[in-house]
Amino acid sequence: MGVGIIGVGAYVPENIVTNKDLEDMVDTNDEWIRTRTGIEERRIASEDMDTSHMAIIAAKNALADAKLEAEDIELILVATATPDNVFPTVACMVQEALSLTNIPAMDISAACAGFVYGLVTAYQYIETNTYKNILVIGSEKFSKIIDWSDKNTCVLFGDGAGAVVISNVTGDKGILSFELGADGSGGKHLLVDNETDFITMNGKEVFKFAVRQLPQSCINVIEKAGLTKEDINFLIPHQANIRIIDAARERLGLKQDKVSTTVRKHGNTSAASIPLALYEELENGKIFDGDIIVIVGFGGGLTWGSLVIKWGK
Ligand code: UT7
Repeated sequence: MGVGIIGVGAYVPENIVTNKDLEDMVDTNDEWIRTRTGIEERRIASEDMDTSHMAIIAAKNALADAKLEAEDIELILVATATPDNVFPTVACMVQEALSLTNIPAMDISAACAGFVYGLVTAYQYIETNTYKNILVIGSEKFSKIIDWSDKNTCVLFGDGAGAVVISNVTGDKGILSFELGADGSGGKHLLVDNETDFITMNGKEVFKFAVRQLPQSCINVIEKAGLTKEDINFLIPHQANIRIIDAARERLGLKQDKVSTTVRKHGNTSAASIPLALYEELENGKIFDGDIIVIVGFGGGLTWGSLVIKWGK
């Protein structure tokens, strides 16, 4: 038996903020944002919708998709950089909302790579027969750590959540290989400033890191799985910038329709971007049973992580 994803759910707030809307707020324009980032619009949560609320909706959707009851879940992991509170964790809030008691629940902090860290952590517990079903959620409300007068950052991010249920899957399906990594020396390039509580970023440095690390990490996990680039059916990279995604796509020799680019509609939703993209691409009918899927995340820390999954239950 393998270890894989048996259910996927998502949630994005209703409120759409377009590039045109941002033109009224900072000295930017639709053309700059589209050509430099690929982003056309993003969802922004209302005052009363926090990270935990989005996580709970996504989690319930993932449970329904997996055809499981909340009682079947034995561990909750939430990847987030924008928890409602320092503690209690978002994972504990999800546990309460699902009326679960006693099962362990914890947040994972690895910025935009957090969801991949969460998947790999869940994989270990299933692989060792410790737990049967684990909820892994990525949920972010970046709008609350954005300086809405800083054009360098405010155009890039959005809010949302995605969730999956990880369990045993049949035959040769499931997670075939993974890699996690971090480079603390690059932490200064992307951080939340303690004085202002706002995100600050050296875009160029993060860009260079991503263009180098993202495709390399994909190649590493593909090799670990005993596969080649030609075996990849679909790539789900962290959705930060279309130019970073395109650079990775070209290095991996993939056609455009084999790579998720939901960044156009969601902007960068940090730890939520990969499960949100996975949800959308399943809805779009882009992923089939038996497909080789590569998932890769990168972000503040600096952190990165990737997985190869043979899709299916
Ligand atoms: O999840 C991981 C998080 N982050 C990332 O992945 C971000 C990685 N980096 C990037 O995506 C890109 O570096 C950015 C999209 C952030 C910036 O693109 P760039 O091509 O590196 O632009 P730049 O920083 O070199 O800025 C070029 C110009 C500057 O003006 P001058 O100095 O050349 O006159 C900026 O002031 O663009 C200006 N600029 C803007 N103009 C209009 C910066 N932000 C904006 C804006 N609208 N929103």
